[in-house]
Amino acid sequence: MKDNLRDDELVCRCEEVTVGDIRKAIQAGARDVTEVKLRTRAGMGLCQGRTCELLVQQIICRELGISADKAGFSTPRTPQRPVTFGTLGGDGFDK
Ligand code: FES
Repeated sequence: MKDNLRDDELVCRCEEVTVGDIRKAIQAGARDVTEVKLRTRAGMGLCQGRTCELLVQQIICRELGISADKAGFSTPRTPQRPVTFGTLGGDGFDK
């Protein structure tokens, strides 16, 4: 990772989270990958953090001066899709 990251550089392209968004989350109290994820949605996109999670972890380590094991990893979740009431009720109007 390069040394001088600009705030407008994109880290999580699925959720359009920038370096600046991650820095703001850290300034607001986030101390690990999961806490940054909860505040910014980085890692909650379609790839579920496969592309961005390591970058998020490295930014946290750099900003806080902590090791990677302290920054940790997020808990994996299965992707969720919106479900209509029609689907839940089985009325056939969702097609
Ligand atoms: S790039 Fe962050 S969730 Fe896909």
